[in-house]
Amino acid sequence: MEFAHLTVLSLFCLAFVGITATSSGEDYWQSIWPNTPLPKTFSDLLIPSGKTNSLPIKSEELKQYSTLFFEHDLHPGKNFILGNTNSVGSIIRPFTKSRQGVTDSIWLANKEKQSLEDFCYSPTAIAEHKHCVSSLKSMIDQVISHFGSTKIKAISSNFAPYQDQYVVEDVKKVGDNAVMCHRLNFEKVVFNCHQVRDTTAYVVSLVASDGTKTKALTVCHHDTRGMNPELLYEALEVTPGTVPVCHFIGNKAAAWVPNHTADNLCVM
Ligand SMILES: *[C@@H]1O[C@H](CO)[C@@H](O)[C@H](O)[C@H]1NC(C)=O
Repeated sequence: MEFAHLTVLSLFCLAFVGITATSSGEDYWQSIWPNTPLPKTFSDLLIPSGKTNSLPIKSEELKQYSTLFFEHDLHPGKNFILGNTNSVGSIIRPFTKSRQGVTDSIWLANKEKQSLEDFCYSPTAIAEHKHCVSSLKSMIDQVISHFGSTKIKAISSNFAPYQDQYVVEDVKKVGDNAVMCHRLNFEKVVFNCHQVRDTTAYVVSLVASDGTKTKALTVCHHDTRGMNPELLYEALEVTPGTVPVCHFIGNKAAAWVPNHTADNLCVM
């Protein structure tokens, strides 16, 4: 009888170990943030390995990433037309030099010229911490260890396709020095998670010309010394290191910031 119990118990344990060993990234997410659905931005990380989408970021989405503006443009009533740096796709730069900021978006266009390894092992900019992650679990572990807390949240954009003209409805600051995780434009599902110093992230509520509402994750860089001078001049006629420069972030990237709601709940 005792023996039978033990056997049942050990079988149960074995089954349990089996489940955790094969548990998906989604289960891991739920075990840490049980009440928070997995953001759509990370859904590519759930694609079974070996099955990938060949061009995860479509060319029309590039415009979302390649719109530069000033921080003082972030106010209700301001009009935006996406894509004021049209040459973003034509400026191909090797990842050999460490640069910051708008070069985040250059990798989008580099698929044909550079390998994933070129990108992931390229030098990081000063004070930039860069990690290429290829599973949801490694992204979660990475950001939790960065913040030293699970009281964090991911914020992303939900741009509608083929809408290029928007009016700002509302601007909310989400935090400084967020960790940005960008889906890289390679077949293999890899996100680059990095923190760039001297940045402020906002969520900007936009209304498209057809009435569609969008929330756009926006990052403003206060230190623009490492930015691409051609891009800055083309879009805003400024030179690196002079004024803060902001850009929208397309749907395939997210900002990780402290979740202050969680803190408030603990106080209550
Ligand atoms: C933030 O924390 C609160 C409280 O734990 C939780 O209910 C909420 O889902 C979290 N938000 C996000 C986006 O993770």
